[in-house]
Amino acid sequence: MLPPLAELPGLDGFLPGSRATIMLDVVFVAMFAVVPLMGWGIWLVRARRNYALHKRVQLTLGIVLLLAVAAFEIDMQFISDWRERAKPSPYFGASEGVNWVMRSLYIHLFFAIPTAFLWIFVIVQALRKIPNPPRPCAYSRPHMFWARLAAIEMVLTAVTGWIFYCLAFVA
Ligand code: HEM
Repeated sequence: MLPPLAELPGLDGFLPGSRATIMLDVVFVAMFAVVPLMGWGIWLVRARRNYALHKRVQLTLGIVLLLAVAAFEIDMQFISDWRERAKPSPYFGASEGVNWVMRSLYIHLFFAIPTAFLWIFVIVQALRKIPNPPRPCAYSRPHMFWARLAAIEMVLTAVTGWIFYCLAFVA
């Protein structure tokens, strides 16, 4: 017999029909803002050549993401027991069959962990090698290569994170 959600460690989230904690809900919802904002930040360079605003948007996203990941990790590792909350899911595969929750988590981590390092790398290198105020320079080509990869990885991190959330806490 599972304990009622309110008795599980960690604060219950706010999304109806979900068993997730508040931090999981915050990150789940925040990614719906992060992805379009990142798209807008890139559009600013491509269509508007607004390098200064591009820099600001990307730096803000980087800082917000860093804080979110820190709060999220503290909650998951030390406060909440997400596995208890995932147990009622038919995809948690308690005894037989494939555990789709764990499988989707590993796929998500496969994208999420490199994405975190890639974002730090892209931001640190851009700050060191692109002039201030920002403009096209000798480092433009490498920046465009690594930054495009970082952007694609961020989208894949968001999509795989949403899938994990639904399999673990909504199903
Ligand atoms: C993780 C953070 C960042 C991401 C994901 C990112 C993404 C991108 C992308 C995808 C492009 C190429 C646009 C295209 O396809 O034409 C670009 C261009 C550019 N970015 Fe970033 N960027 C980031 C951080 C920064 C920072 C911190 C700076 C400034 C210090 C910066 C300055 C520039 C400049 C100047 C260009 C134009 C390069 C050129 O056209 O020659 N970026 N960025």
